[in-house]
Amino acid sequence: MPFSLPIHDLYQPADPGQRFPPGFVWGVATSAYQIEGAAQADGKGPSIWDVFCRQPGAIADGSNGDTACDHVRRLDEDLDLIAGLGVDAYRFSVSWPRVQPLGQGAWNEAGLAFYERLVDGLLARGVQPYLTLNHWDLPQALQDQGGWANRAMVQHFVDYALGIHRRLGHRVAAITTHNEPWVVAKLGHEDGIFAPGLRQRATAMQVAHHLLLSHGLALQALRADGCTAKLGIVLNLSPVQPATASAADLARARLEDGLLLRWYMDPLYNGAYPADVLAHLGADAPRVQPGDMAAISAALDFLGINYYSRAVVSADAPFDVSRSGLPLTDMGWEVYPEGLTDLLLRVHRDYPVPPIYLTENGGAFADHLAAGRVHDRDRTDYIASHIAAVGAALGQGVPMAGYMVWSLMDNFEWASGYAKRFGIVHVHYATQRRTVKDSAFWYRRFLQRQRAQQGGSVLATHGA
Ligand code: FCB
Repeated sequence: MPFSLPIHDLYQPADPGQRFPPGFVWGVATSAYQIEGAAQADGKGPSIWDVFCRQPGAIADGSNGDTACDHVRRLDEDLDLIAGLGVDAYRFSVSWPRVQPLGQGAWNEAGLAFYERLVDGLLARGVQPYLTLNHWDLPQALQDQGGWANRAMVQHFVDYALGIHRRLGHRVAAITTHNEPWVVAKLGHEDGIFAPGLRQRATAMQVAHHLLLSHGLALQALRADGCTAKLGIVLNLSPVQPATASAADLARARLEDGLLLRWYMDPLYNGAYPADVLAHLGADAPRVQPGDMAAISAALDFLGINYYSRAVVSADAPFDVSRSGLPLTDMGWEVYPEGLTDLLLRVHRDYPVPPIYLTENGGAFADHLAAGRVHDRDRTDYIASHIAAVGAALGQGVPMAGYMVWSLMDNFEWASGYAKRFGIVHVHYATQRRTVKDSAFWYRRFLQRQRAQQGGSVLATHGA
């Protein structure tokens, strides 16, 4: 054990109550650009985030991922940390430009060897690797050819997926194609607040289509290649609620639900984009070729959902979250665990979903490190209440198969830079010292109690 549990002064929120079934997967999650550092080392090519961070004003604190948590150089220490938490699984992403600097053609052996060490190190410690192929750090060389707006990207992604599969696929438990395609399309190509920083809705919708198409074709290619890992995609979903009961707010909420949830879930499960959203987009709707929709709806082994909060929308002014009276995280997001149960029930009701993993959930809070401790009760409460929300959905028949905390450790929070801390492990960036927060001690203890109770599970198992 790399760290021991402080019992006497550890905050214990009400136990989430449920006993989860044996085989339910508990994990922690990270992504490559947010933790790895070594951005220009060992043959890695530049990614769109390396470039975007250099745009004046793009990142709140003017920072970038050059060093981040220096994870590439501290791999063994971090693997011990993960194992010490007692989790079943670790969700991480591969940096495409680290393994294939130009996004096509030559592979970078040093990059592949790094992920091989990561995967082998997890397996040696009894932790299942959950690998994500695209957590946003596209090779800049591909962006220079139009990036995700260019249909040629689809084949580059399939080739990349096959290359990773051939090297690592037989040793990982799961492969996710894309993390949160809505974020890539909307925040990256319509709002311009994430890389690559473009601002055009028609481009964003074409990007969303190419992401989905490359997902479906990658699944087909990996299966044809004999893949044994579970295959899926990760979506960021929220219940979308109207600010008032007015007809205008209700219509707006329905549309936003269409853009956020149905735009992705309908093609994945029904092979068609939602008609109301297509009508709303008009000339901004994507160009779709014959066969695309059938490819997108390739069967999923699992669905990953990232949940942080609900969305409240109003037809005129943006909704002011301070009006709701709910606690807010340091991101200004409402703490609303009920929304997670609602979302999971709705997704299960409206779509023939496979096993669902909550692949990200957690909160940024202003932490205080003192005398080697971080007493992050707010984060512990956040995680415990959302685990309870997952349990409530499971108890009502939703096929929940796992839960992963975002994030293992504090890291580069995209446009917010290093100011927002999501970790259950604190990172002191000047020294790279890791300090286990109270929330991590609580999580470990919760998992120990779950395991001690197993055998007499009261909930049906749906684990994949
Ligand atoms: C999600 C991202 C993840 C992290 C959390 C806070 O949208 O997938 O990388 O930034 O939000």
